[in-house]
Amino acid sequence: MNYKNIKFIIAGGFAFILLAGLSSCGKKDQNSPGVEFMPDMYRSPSLEYYSTHTIDGDTSNNAMLPVKGTVARGYKPYTYENTPEGYETAGLQLKNPLAIADRELHEKDGEVLYGKFCVHCHGAAGAGDGKVAAKLPGPPPAYDGALKNLPEGKIFHSITYGKGSMGSHASQLTAEERWKLVFYVQKLQGKNLPGADSTAAATTTAVATPSAAPAATTSATH
Ligand code: HEC
Repeated sequence: MNYKNIKFIIAGGFAFILLAGLSSCGKKDQNSPGVEFMPDMYRSPSLEYYSTHTIDGDTSNNAMLPVKGTVARGYKPYTYENTPEGYETAGLQLKNPLAIADRELHEKDGEVLYGKFCVHCHGAAGAGDGKVAAKLPGPPPAYDGALKNLPEGKIFHSITYGKGSMGSHASQLTAEERWKLVFYVQKLQGKNLPGADSTAAATTTAVATPSAAPAATTSATH
C-alpha cells in the first residue's frame, strides 16, 4: 500500500466519523438522547419526581400529598387561626413554651435572629427606624412605645402570620426560633421578666449594644 492510499483511508475515516457525528444531531425529536450505548444510564428504573407511575393498572402521582390531617413527626401545628379572633385568643392563651430559666440564652439567640430577619424594618432598638422602615407605608411601631404591653401570644402570632406590611416569618423561622425572638422582643419592650439576673442583664446590654449603655446609666442615676 502506498503512502497516498494510507492518507486517503485516514481522510475517509475522519470524514465518516464527522458525518456520523453530525447525523446523530439534528434528530426530529428534541428529547431523544440519540444512540443509547447504555440505556440504563439514560432510563433509570427509579420513579421520577412529579410524574406518574402505573402499577397493576393503577396510575398515581409520584409526588403525592400527605393524607389529610397528617402531622409530620416532631411538628406541632399552630392552631390559632389567622383572623382577628385568633389574634385575640392567642394573646390571652398562648404562652412561651421555652424555659424561662434559660431566658438569657434564648434572648441571645433571638438577638442574632433579630439581626438577620427584623432589624432592617424594626431598627436595632426596636424603635421602628430600620433602613427599610422609611419605605413602608407606615413604619413599625416602637416595641417600647405603642407595643410595650403587647402580650407574648400576640407577638408570636404576628411573627407567625405577619401583620400589616410585615410578612409571615413561619417559613423562615421554626416555632422555637420565633419564641426566642419573642424573648428578645420582650427585652426590647423593656419587660422585666423573671428568670433574669439583673446585673447579668445589665452587663449583656452594655456589651451587646454600646449605644444603649449611656441610656441605661442615665436611667440608673434617676
Ligand atoms: C418588612 C418590614 C418588617 C420586617 C422584616 C419585620 N417586621 Fe415586624 N412589623 C412591621 C410593621 C410595618 C409592623 C406594624 C404592623 C401593623 O400593625 O400594621 C410590624 C409589627 C410587628 C410586631 C407587632 C405586632 C402586633 O401584634 O401588633 C411585632 C411583635 C413584630 N413586628 C416583630 C417582628 C419580628 C420579631 C420580626 C423579625 C422576625 C419582624 N417583626 C420583621 C414590619 C416588619
